[in-house]
Amino acid sequence: MTGADPILEVSGLDVRFDSPQGIVHAVRDVSFSVAPGEIVALVGESGSGKSTIGLALMRLLDHEESARVQGTIRFTGKDGGSRDLMAQSARSMRRIRGNDIGMIFQEPMSSLDPIFTVGAQIVEAIRIHQRKSAGEATSLALEMLHLLGIAHPRQCFASYPHQISGGMIQRVMIAMALSCNPTLLVADEPTTGLDVTIQAQIIEHLQSLQRQQRMSVLFITHDLGLVAEIADRVFVLYAGQVVEFGSVETIFRAPLMPYTGMLLDSLPRLGCSSLPDYRIEAIPGNVPNATAFPPGCAFHPRCRHFEPLTCDRDTPALELAAPDHLVRCCRWHAIRGACDS
Ligand SMILES: Nc1ncnc2c1ncn2[C@@H]1O[C@H](COP(=O)(O)OP(=O)(O)O)[C@@H](O)[C@H]1O
Ligand code: SF4
Ligand SMILES: [Mg+2]
Repeated sequence: MTGADPILEVSGLDVRFDSPQGIVHAVRDVSFSVAPGEIVALVGESGSGKSTIGLALMRLLDHEESARVQGTIRFTGKDGGSRDLMAQSARSMRRIRGNDIGMIFQEPMSSLDPIFTVGAQIVEAIRIHQRKSAGEATSLALEMLHLLGIAHPRQCFASYPHQISGGMIQRVMIAMALSCNPTLLVADEPTTGLDVTIQAQIIEHLQSLQRQQRMSVLFITHDLGLVAEIADRVFVLYAGQVVEFGSVETIFRAPLMPYTGMLLDSLPRLGCSSLPDYRIEAIPGNVPNATAFPPGCAFHPRCRHFEPLTCDRDTPALELAAPDHLVRCCRWHAIRGACDS
């Protein structure tokens, strides 16, 4: 799957926010790609920079005065043309958002307007991007709600956001994002906070639509259990940097960066990571303050493989440990040696 030309190629993405506490360096020189039809997961603890990457990709940080975004974001749209999203006008970005790239936000409730019915909002989203009559858009909206497992699509369509459950809201958001048949979906924690059964149903519907539409997905999550179920490749993010990258199989079977290993160890039991109260904050210590990272490896104060005068002095680069396996750790050779022996 990685052989095809990527639909999304992010290079050197860097995001800083000016804040009263100093410069928050939320995303640090992040590069990754997503191939057509591929699901790539971006995983990391809360505060590691995941949502900022999603927002920067969509150029949704443009209106934040404090944000400074750098890098290139090459994207191939439905017309087959490749362009740098960073160089697009605001008008062109409005066309790309929703039409070529769909997005599900981390806070779905705040994305819906409480004074309009769910149906009116999906129909509007469809008609902004597609030449469809109100009747055609209504039929498409009802079909999408049905495809996302909503038992009574007409009832949901006629409801106001406060009249439906959190699970339904998530399905509505997914229906809205997918109704324009985007080539790329950016899904930021699309099922966080939902009951485990509802979560499993939504993921199943999302996967089935993803296969039907041969859509690429950037799946942003803190939940490694979900990553194992849904993703082809994984980027592990720590303190705004990619610290490990590989196929799901590589990351789960042979992680080399100690942080990834600790994330995996923090899974309570296989299959339990989807519990609503599960959080990967089980790792001792905290994500460092993004205004002042520790010297050397940013993970060193929490690392069980820490070596004084190496890890707190040398800044590790992202190195190729195997084809399609990148790792950022000064000691990965030694760690791999210990695993092999
Ligand atoms: N608008 C903003 N202004 C200042 N700091 C921000 C802003 N948005 C995010 N941050 C900071 O950037 C870091 C990454 O945040 P975020 O991308 O939301 O992480 P995640 O989605 O992984 O939880 C955090 O330290 C957060 O406090
Ligand atoms: S560089 Fe050192 S502190 Fe950082 S992950 Fe590797 S072993 Fe741990
Ligand atoms: Mg987030």
